[in-house]
Amino acid sequence: MHETDRYAYPHRVLHWLVAAVLLFSLATGLTLGALGFEGARDALGMAMTNLLYTAHKTLGVMILGLMIARVVTRSIFVVPLHDPPLSAFQYTLSHGVHALLYLVLLVQPVLGWVATATGGFPVQFFHWTLPPLMGENEALSEQLYTWHAWVGWTILVLVALHIAGAFYHWLFVRDGVMKRMSLF
Ligand code: HEM
Ligand code: HEM
Repeated sequence: MHETDRYAYPHRVLHWLVAAVLLFSLATGLTLGALGFEGARDALGMAMTNLLYTAHKTLGVMILGLMIARVVTRSIFVVPLHDPPLSAFQYTLSHGVHALLYLVLLVQPVLGWVATATGGFPVQFFHWTLPPLMGENEALSEQLYTWHAWVGWTILVLVALHIAGAFYHWLFVRDGVMKRMSLF
């Protein structure tokens, strides 16, 4: 396979960075969602709970930055055509899932950010506190956290579909789809 048949290298690096950061972001988010603040404090102690919240927020803000960079690399580099071409069904399904992944991965960190800020909590990025962007509003914060949870589950489903599709091509169809995105 020629380099021109693959996504550009910076775009491939961003793909795998987002995949790795998302894994930890979902793991920390789902833990916090399942335990809640008090459950986490009782089970893990105050220091660990604070660390978990800070880590989750930091990872989420990182995803926002990486996804913005990814939109840029997606627009400036040529996207290679599939060789052999995908069927119309596979093309529509894979492009639909990809487009939705872009959308939810840009929306989700913003939801988390404003849910946190309107709840009166700090938007932490490592040891910095980022601007809240919106004032305190408890009712709005609750609504935004509910959406944040729903979008979180949507991301899980989309990623599962996407990984299943990638492995199907890699192990069963054995075409060059995996190579288009692999780092080596
Ligand atoms: C793509 C990035 C993100 C993903 C995939 C994600 C995912 C999740 C998930 C799945 C949950 C559990 C929801 C539940 O079951 O109730 C959660 C909770 C939470 N997220 Fe995120 N999140 C992201 C970004 C952010 C950001 C940027 C912030 C804040 C700056 C944030 C703040 C929170 C907080 C505070 C909770 C706990 C809410 C609760 O106690 O119910 N998230 N996140
Ligand atoms: C084991 C994990 C993963 C594997 C094996 C994998 C594999 C692939 C492959 C082979 C492609 C190229 C598809 C094509 O022919 O165009 C691709 C593209 C893509 N992947 Fe993944 N992927 C994984 C995880 C993820 C995750 C976690 C996300 C989202 C957070 C993601 C989002 C995307 C998107 C949006 C594209 C379309 C290309 C673009 O425009 O950026 N992938 N992936």
